[in-house]
Amino acid sequence: MLYSKVRYIQLPKVLRRLNQQLHFRTIQKQSSPVTTVVIRHTHAGNVGEEKVAAGGTFQIMGETYRADSWTNVTPKIISNIGKNLHNQQHHPLCLIKQRIINYFYANFTNRSENPIFAVFDNINPVVTTHQNFDSLLIPEDHPSRAKSDTYYVTKDQLLRSQTSAHQEELIIMGFDSFLAVGDVYRRDTIDATHYPVFHQMEGVRLFSESEVFKGVNDPTGLTLFEDTNQIKRTSDKQESHTLDAVKLLEYDLKNTLSSLAHHLFGEDIQYRWVDCYFPFTHPSWELEILYKDEWLEVLGCGIMEQKILLNAGAKNKIGWAFGLGLERLAMKLYQIPDIRLFWSNDSGFLNQFKVEDPETPIAYKPVSIYPQCTSDLSFWIPKDYTENDFYDLVRSVGGDIVEQVTLVDTFLHPKHQKTSHCYRIIYRHMEKTLTQKEVNDVHRQITQAAIDQLKIEPR
Ligand code: DAH
Repeated sequence: MLYSKVRYIQLPKVLRRLNQQLHFRTIQKQSSPVTTVVIRHTHAGNVGEEKVAAGGTFQIMGETYRADSWTNVTPKIISNIGKNLHNQQHHPLCLIKQRIINYFYANFTNRSENPIFAVFDNINPVVTTHQNFDSLLIPEDHPSRAKSDTYYVTKDQLLRSQTSAHQEELIIMGFDSFLAVGDVYRRDTIDATHYPVFHQMEGVRLFSESEVFKGVNDPTGLTLFEDTNQIKRTSDKQESHTLDAVKLLEYDLKNTLSSLAHHLFGEDIQYRWVDCYFPFTHPSWELEILYKDEWLEVLGCGIMEQKILLNAGAKNKIGWAFGLGLERLAMKLYQIPDIRLFWSNDSGFLNQFKVEDPETPIAYKPVSIYPQCTSDLSFWIPKDYTENDFYDLVRSVGGDIVEQVTLVDTFLHPKHQKTSHCYRIIYRHMEKTLTQKEVNDVHRQITQAAIDQLKIEPR
């Protein structure tokens, strides 16, 4: 059994302060840790119904925050923090995390046969804007920084929108090879594959000059960096890197990740590399695999921007990084049809993943399918309205019985110059049939909350 041995490592103080656990060689067996989130309102209001008011205080993971004009986390979103589905034994997200870690532990070891990748899966999701954006060279005007896309705790702190947020701090701590797994938060549309909280894994591996050229017969004259700053960036490489070094790293990265894809999806799958862009890597690629006749995007990766390493105090190394979404992989691998199921406490769902060995193949069988109910809502939108404000409100008030919200019609009144939106809301409970009355009640509450909080005018 792969997970029977548990070894605890004494953590340096700085790590403990970050509330992390370092896994080494084997994964710690975990019971389901549940952290209670205390939300203190300075005004009346039930959990899940509205934003935290400016000036009011609220708590996340035992830490108190004071809301300011950037705060847009809702009590409903906060209530997910600390659930750490990826650490709950037998949860599908935990199984897939373990399978990926198994692959890295088994295939990347040092002289003493100890795994070289350190695993962090309990880092607090509240990070600074520096961690989530600046440290990753994400431009000031990048749309992902907008309040409409990201959950801000305060002006300078937010719920991480990507696990890449931890690259810099872990490199500063001296880690050269690591995997960081955690919950990430994004304001987004509502459908079967999007949920405002999901889980990512970040991988980073840094190399020294001798490590990069280790396999070369005669490495004389080969270096990681150009000795002049006259060289321009090309589609193949950054300005400071030598083409020799980058090509070797690209080979290592693609090899590592295509083998991971085979480990997860089987030896028979076809895969392809697609060029793409990320602010924190260059060149960058996406890995797609042909699975059940469909090209599926599995992960993003690339050669890390040298400036990130420079800022993190690792200027003599070069590195690669990748990031992948655990839900996306688990939905395909286990045939899970709806992302809300990951949050289900229903034993009909969870019991299907109770396997001792995470490598056991599992195909999820829907317990039963309950009917959908559809209701439309049309209103005139106010001036500073963003669609994600409405989606958040629907999530907060409707909860998980809302399966999908789509903007089905937009209309600009020629005389009043007012815009109206019509949203179609699909309701479906995961575990029972909803009555028309239940749907009507929730639909009415959503309408009322939109009038009160977003100042919409129903048509
Ligand atoms: N952070 C990216 C995202 O959330 C994923 C990613 C892509 C991570 C490329 C990486 C990378 O480390 O190299 O979309």
